[in-house]
Amino acid sequence: MILTLEWTPKGVNFIDQTKLPLEESYVLATNYEEVAEVIVTMVVRGAPAIGVSAAYGVALGAKDSKAKTIEEFAPEFEAICARLAGTRPTAVNLFWAIDRMKRLFAELLATKTPMSSVKERILTEAHAMYNEDIAACKTMGAFGGERMPDEGGVLTHCNAGALATCGYGTALGVIRSAVEQGKRIKVYADETRPFLQGARLTAWELMHDGIDTTVICDNMAASLMRAGKIQAVVVGADRIAANGDFANKIGTYNVAILAREHGIPFYVAAPCSTIDMKPPDGAAIPIEERSPVEVTHHGGKQLTPHGVGICNPAFDVTPARYLTAIFTERGTLEAPFNESLKKMAVAE
Ligand code: MRU
Repeated sequence: MILTLEWTPKGVNFIDQTKLPLEESYVLATNYEEVAEVIVTMVVRGAPAIGVSAAYGVALGAKDSKAKTIEEFAPEFEAICARLAGTRPTAVNLFWAIDRMKRLFAELLATKTPMSSVKERILTEAHAMYNEDIAACKTMGAFGGERMPDEGGVLTHCNAGALATCGYGTALGVIRSAVEQGKRIKVYADETRPFLQGARLTAWELMHDGIDTTVICDNMAASLMRAGKIQAVVVGADRIAANGDFANKIGTYNVAILAREHGIPFYVAAPCSTIDMKPPDGAAIPIEERSPVEVTHHGGKQLTPHGVGICNPAFDVTPARYLTAIFTERGTLEAPFNESLKKMAVAE
C-alpha cells in the first residue's frame, strides 16, 4: 500500500512527492508550521490529501500548545487555522477540513472542555477525516469503475491517486476499481506540465500496482483520441461549484474539449468535501498562480531565455457542459449538475 501521509507520535510523516519517482523518501513535520510548509512546497499535494494534512496540522498545533484552558487556547487555535488556510487557495478540501475543526472547537469551547480532552478530540477528528477519505475513495471508485469500458484506453490528467488522497485515490480509485472488476484497462497518463504529476506520480503509483500505464505528453491527447485509443477520460477535482463547473489541474479544460470533440465520455471523481455550493459557477473559484520557476526550470536546469514572460496558473475551470457524470461517495451525479448537486447538498 502507498502511504501518502501518516500520523506518528513524533509528528506527521509525508512521502516526499517532490522527489518521486526517483527517490522514495519521507518528510516528518513535527509542528503545524512544518505542515504548512510541506503543503506550500508540494511535498504533499492533491485536494483531499491537503485537507487531511491541514487537519493533522491543527492537531499538532493543539498538542504543542502550552495553554491551560480552552479559552486561553482560542486565539492560538485561530492563528493555527489561519496559517494552514493560507497555504494554497484552490482546493476547497483545505477549507472544508479547517471549517470542520472550527465547528468542533466551537462545541468544545461552549462546554468548557479541559485542554487535555481538547487535544484528544481534535486528533480524533483528524483521524476520522483520514479514514473517511479512504472509505470515500473506495466507494466512489466502485461507482465509477462500473462506468469504465470493459476493455480500452482511459486517459487521466495530473495525479488524482493514492498520493493525492489518504489512499486508493479518486480518479485512480475508479481505474483501480475497474481493474479489480476484471476490466482490461490501459491507462494513458498526461505528463501534466509543469509539475509533472502525471509523468512522475500517476505513472509511479499505477506501476506500483501493476496497472498497464503509458505516459504521454500533454499535447498528444487529441491525436490518440482520433486514433481511437481512448474510450473514457477520468480526472479528479479541486473544487466543484454549485452548477458543476469544476477546477482541476491546468490542462483539464483542454482534455474536456478534446473528449467532447471525439465523442468520448468525460468523468470527474471527487469526494463531497470537494463540492463548494457557495460559488454559483466556476468563475468565482480562486485560481492559484505558482512560481514562474516551475515553468522556466526543470531539475535545476533552465529551459527558457532569461527575462521571458511566464504565466503559471496551477488550475483551470472546466464548464459543467463538458461533464458526463461526477462520481462521489454518495453516488453518481448526472446532468443537469446544478440540480443533482443541490439534491445531494439538501440530503446532507
Ligand atoms: O497542484 P496539485 O498537484 O495539488 O493539483 C492536484 C490536482 O489538480 C488533482 O487532480 C486534484 O487535487 C484531485 S486529487 C484527488
